Amino acid sequence: MICAALLAGGIGTRLDVGMPKQFYLIAGKPILIHSLEAFLKVEEMDEIIVSSPKECVNKTKDVIKEYDLTDPRITVIEGGKRRSDTILNSINYTLENDYPKDSIMVTHDAARIFVTPKLIKDSIRYAKQYGAASAVIPATDVIFESKKDGILTDVPDRQYLLQSQTPQSFNINHYIEIYSDLSDEEIDKLDEAMILFHMRGHEIGLFEGDRTNFKVTRPSDIKIANAMLRG
Ligand code: CTP
Repeated sequence: MICAALLAGGIGTRLDVGMPKQFYLIAGKPILIHSLEAFLKVEEMDEIIVSSPKECVNKTKDVIKEYDLTDPRITVIEGGKRRSDTILNSINYTLENDYPKDSIMVTHDAARIFVTPKLIKDSIRYAKQYGAASAVIPATDVIFESKKDGILTDVPDRQYLLQSQTPQSFNINHYIEIYSDLSDEEIDKLDEAMILFHMRGHEIGLFEGDRTNFKVTRPSDIKIANAMLRG
């Protein structure tokens, strides 16, 4: 079984558009619908678990209906407080619905509206091969490390630095194993440090992401995304 956890459980504080950002229109269409449409094009996807802030579950369902996406593979669930909690809610959904233990979950930030069926398929292929997989792009800028307030402490060699993106996929069983071993502190840091990093003992296949697959996060991203879609 292959499922997607399309993560739309956040509220978009940094975008600051007066509504959870997944409902905000880019080139006339909500952010969530842009990314959902890419997932619907992937035939091997058995179910797409769309998460939503608790108070917006009905709105999320309405928006999906409004765009005539009546595909029975779509399910809407409540997200959690943090992104990692939303992923956990998605995992719990698969457990409650008796997914086979070797199922693969493809997680994706709904705010990355330029995801393509190719990236999703690559993610599935790599997760099948390695057990876990992430899209990455080479770091463009020199990255400074500062472990002291405002003081440069290191300049890691850029040739080894990659920026992670979603889709990130994994075998559901591996995730459960790792998650149950993590401390609360580690779970708190998951959004930055990423669950995949904790998948010690498992290889994580890295596949080529796409520079256009950026996350609509700040107001300037709206302008870029609109310009890209309007050609
Ligand atoms: N997300 C989620 N559940 C949360 C928090 C985030 O599903 N509790 C999702 C968001 O909806 C988004 C993706 O994770 O699609 C990436 O997170 P981010 O861009 O940080 O989204 P927000 O948390 O909504 O934005 P902000 O941090 O600006 O509030």
